Amino acid sequence: MNIQWYPGHMTKTRRQMEEDIRRVDLVAEVVDARIPLSSRNPDIDAIAGGRPRLILFNRTDQADPKETAAWMALYQRDGLGVLETDAKSGKGVSRFSATVREVLKDKIEAWRARGQVGRPVRVMVVGIPNVGKSTFINKVAGRKTAKAADKPGVTRGKQWISIDAGLDLLDTPGILWPRFEDETTGLHLAFTGAVKDEILDTETLGCRLMALLARRYPDALRTAYKLPELPPRQEEENDTAYGYRILEAAAVRRGMKISGGEADTERMARVLLDEFRAGRLGRFTLEPAEEGGHG
Ligand code: G4P
Repeated sequence: MNIQWYPGHMTKTRRQMEEDIRRVDLVAEVVDARIPLSSRNPDIDAIAGGRPRLILFNRTDQADPKETAAWMALYQRDGLGVLETDAKSGKGVSRFSATVREVLKDKIEAWRARGQVGRPVRVMVVGIPNVGKSTFINKVAGRKTAKAADKPGVTRGKQWISIDAGLDLLDTPGILWPRFEDETTGLHLAFTGAVKDEILDTETLGCRLMALLARRYPDALRTAYKLPELPPRQEEENDTAYGYRILEAAAVRRGMKISGGEADTERMARVLLDEFRAGRLGRFTLEPAEEGGHG
């Protein structure tokens, strides 16, 4: 598995982001609610340098609602502000401003006590690619803004967008790099499309996703691919081998065959990944809050 990611950009990116963050009162970190652990970059703790934080659970329309609630409770317990959003439809976005003010209420009160009544709150949105940062900024700003180039860092020519009286948002997101030091994190980022197919070939990725869905959401998987039963897992069978057999069964159900009549598992793998990424199979959270994300 390829674990190198933007290695050359990191130092510069990080320095730039740290500089930008010095100018804000709060860092809003967008995470993908389907992978609340893997879609965070742990370096943000150091980059944010103790700034108050708000975790935006985005893509909640695609995630398991029970898990989203459980994850939000966990992060809240750690002292972070939380908000759930579906930036595509705009659900939850209108609560952004009030949530930011709630997280910063002591600070705002202190400003007021010092006579800094009109001081605007400044906020920056950060996150790894594909979590929905640009979509969120567009929605919260109520208009189209330029999409930042999809590489870490903040583009030049920064501007502030006024969200409402006294709340300004940096118009371009800080793009963090995904970090995957273990295989599970890398796989989860690949399943959601946060890292495109650099990690494993599509077919193997499809096998691994099938095995994971069979473990976490077997009923939804059976329904989605009209499988009366999932093939029973054999002893000592690894995820790739087991997932391959489910891919085969699904391909047969969908009539995907290659010449000679064999199941077209490669095509099925592509379909599975597309359907999963588009949320067409159901609402899934791949990392259960109960186990700290490692299911
Ligand atoms: P980024 O800046 O973090 O890299 O992500 P961006 O906003 O570009 O969003 C990436 C894709 O995810 C976009 O789809 C966007 O519409 C979609 N998206 C963002 N937030 C949500 C959400 O809460 N729910 C769902 N279901 N999708 C979300 P796209 O396929 O690139 O474009 P389009 O199909 O929307 O035109």
